[in-house]
Amino acid sequence: MPDDTATAQAPASGDGAAANPLRAGLPEDRITTPCSIVFFGASGDLFKRMLLPAIYSMHLGGRLPADFALVGFARTAYSDDQFRDYCRKQLEQFMPDDSKPQGPVWDDFARRISYITADFNDTRHFVALKDRLEQNDRDFGTGGNHLFYLSTPPSVFPEIIKHLKNAGLEKSEQGWTRIVVEKPFGTDLASARKLQQAIEAVFPENEIYRIDHYLGKEPVQDIIALRFANTIFEPIWNRNYVQNVQITSAESLGVEERGGYYDHAGALRDMIQNHVINLLALVAMEAPISSDADDIRGEKYKVLSAIQPPTHADVFSMSARGQYGPGMIDGRPVKGYRQEQDVAPDSNTETFAALRLYVENWRWAGVPFFLRSGKRLPRKLAEIAVTFKPIPHRFYGESTDQIEPNVLVIKIEPDEGISMRFEAKVPGPAEHIRSVFMDFSYGSGFGVVSPPAYERLIGDAMLGDQTLFTRWDAVERAWEIVTPILEVWQNTKDFSFPNYAAGSQGPDGAKKLFPDWRHV
Ligand code: BG6
Repeated sequence: MPDDTATAQAPASGDGAAANPLRAGLPEDRITTPCSIVFFGASGDLFKRMLLPAIYSMHLGGRLPADFALVGFARTAYSDDQFRDYCRKQLEQFMPDDSKPQGPVWDDFARRISYITADFNDTRHFVALKDRLEQNDRDFGTGGNHLFYLSTPPSVFPEIIKHLKNAGLEKSEQGWTRIVVEKPFGTDLASARKLQQAIEAVFPENEIYRIDHYLGKEPVQDIIALRFANTIFEPIWNRNYVQNVQITSAESLGVEERGGYYDHAGALRDMIQNHVINLLALVAMEAPISSDADDIRGEKYKVLSAIQPPTHADVFSMSARGQYGPGMIDGRPVKGYRQEQDVAPDSNTETFAALRLYVENWRWAGVPFFLRSGKRLPRKLAEIAVTFKPIPHRFYGESTDQIEPNVLVIKIEPDEGISMRFEAKVPGPAEHIRSVFMDFSYGSGFGVVSPPAYERLIGDAMLGDQTLFTRWDAVERAWEIVTPILEVWQNTKDFSFPNYAAGSQGPDGAKKLFPDWRHV
């Protein structure tokens, strides 16, 4: 729960509430507390595409406090005015048409922006940052509250942390200090532990916000509501009724301009270790005793502890890897991974990873969890599908009809909703059976577009709510689970690469691992 909850809550806005009874009477938004937010790496890609638009959208929606300031801190040389201009140009490109920066609303935002051209390894620039934050407190009433957002390449995280301490910025005399750490949190178990040691030497756990933007997506937050605000699902959410669980995060995009990073990462590090394992934890965990951040995160850690990492000998029977070759996406030809910019021509990096894991506890013993993520699959699709056991005895339906198992699908993107597949009789004199679907869609149900994940998460960090941020024990456990696979994959070259065409369903190995993957 937030330790400094919203100072004010706006009443339900007229339009949404009047138009949609499901939203009537709901407080509309939480307003964050006064603060300065410092973006380390503010000249980078994530800042311009995601972080800056998220903050500006909060400003437009009245979800930032009046007492707010933003400081960019990066290597590229800008004056304050040049950086404001840079921000305006990015917002022009990345904000939707009805939210472009203009007029007094933009002017009010712009005057709160400043910039420090910095060498991350020079304490003097951190001392200059301290002066700037004090100036912000005087000019904008930011109350000594400081949110440090690390969106640089992870290799410089330790330097930044060390110099924050050298400059006396690890705590604030009057207010709070929090640090948001972007993924990847380390590149393997050893480097994650080292990074954790560097951070915890300076900041206590309750000030560290490890971001995994999947946790900010609305349908992901709704997993807890679906499971624990209803009675009908929990009794069947276990080995007695569930045949398997499939978690998919597929993309049609390739590596775009991120070949340099991705070729050292691969799908297992980039997606499975964080986003996909976080989804597994939410779907499989026990009911927390309260909605307190640490009660929820404690349950997530516990369920991850029940997953046995595969032994090296088991890796090939419990996983499948792939790398895309040239192919077609949306009817247009695209290059293969090895032809992408900044990728080694003989790269052994996987762009597709699939695993079978077991949660070895009372609830889930024997139920396989299939995890899959890949680039250049036919479309963007993130979902969790819980497939239930087949009926015990068949006596109804024409003999040629297939009776399919029930499937509950939590749709994360592009559609956001919940879908239940069940069998029904086809109207008419014969006893034909067909699969039909009960569908709930957030968009049409609640009549609003879900806020982008980053907006939600930055707001939560400003409010001091750690629920949607990953605690160190879970990050460490997720690394422990994937480490044997990483090691075997790194040490054995896959001579079949590239082994799936862009736009296909992925490598044959995935089918061997599990023939019943849902279609992407
Ligand atoms: C990021 C990965 O964490 O998530 C990217 O580094 C990936 O490789 C992205 O494309 C996917 O996020 P989303 O929100 O588009 O599903």
